[in-house]
Amino acid sequence: MIDGISQAQAVITKRHPDFHPLVGVISGTGLGGLTEQLDGAQPIPYEALPGFPRPGVSGHQGHLVLAMVEDTPVAVLEGRAHLYEDGRADAMAVAVHTLAGLGCEALVLSNAAGGLDDDMVPGSVMLLTDHINFTGQSPLFGETGDDRFVDMTDAYDPALRYRILALAAEMDLPLHQGVYGWFAGPNFETPAEVRAAGILGANAVGMSTVPEVILARHAGMRVAALSVITNRAAGLGDDLLSHEQTKANAALATDQVQRLLLAFLAEYGA
Ligand code: HPA
Repeated sequence: MIDGISQAQAVITKRHPDFHPLVGVISGTGLGGLTEQLDGAQPIPYEALPGFPRPGVSGHQGHLVLAMVEDTPVAVLEGRAHLYEDGRADAMAVAVHTLAGLGCEALVLSNAAGGLDDDMVPGSVMLLTDHINFTGQSPLFGETGDDRFVDMTDAYDPALRYRILALAAEMDLPLHQGVYGWFAGPNFETPAEVRAAGILGANAVGMSTVPEVILARHAGMRVAALSVITNRAAGLGDDLLSHEQTKANAALATDQVQRLLLAFLAEYGA
């Protein structure tokens, strides 16, 4: 893994020697259009980056994009690998550590999720306050140093959350807060699993983000994450669940999430 990190970093710094990103972004299903809003965005396909994933899920691209959001240099990963693709919880390890190696202090993630709370209807957005890992997997399996024992208290950085909440209020964007339950997928949860997750404290369920958060905390980055609620979680709504629905309903909140993210990124480096 270490080799992949330094090789990927070398490719990026060779192409863009004067670019030093301060914040990393990993965008989820249907939210990959963020960088289309940015002038001078410089995409590097994952194929050029050793150890980066080959996203195999529709709705996900596979680019690292370097761009300025006003005065903030950012590195956006458009496309992620998931545990369900090849059973590897550490599929994003090289990508996340490369962002840290390039100098990113913070990582902001977005995902699509099913909502459990009554008011979390499709198109709602939830700021993660915490997570529950229902998979039994960790991207740190096999790590050796003492720093593998990562403290996950305040994994979702309170100061970053505060800023995002303040910006959402200023922009008049409704923003829920809650706990994200990570399931392995690729099948959706059963209604009984959703009920169990709710009893245990989850407000939304999804199949991503948590391994990247653990990797980012291991790499010393501060983290913030947003879920776009694309459906009522299994058993709670009338619709059948599908990836088509996830992609279509993610679009309901794309604009809101992009505006919020861009405001946060612009303010970060100001
Ligand atoms: N469950 C898991 N992942 C998801 C869901 C869901 O209901 N919706 C979008 N991604």
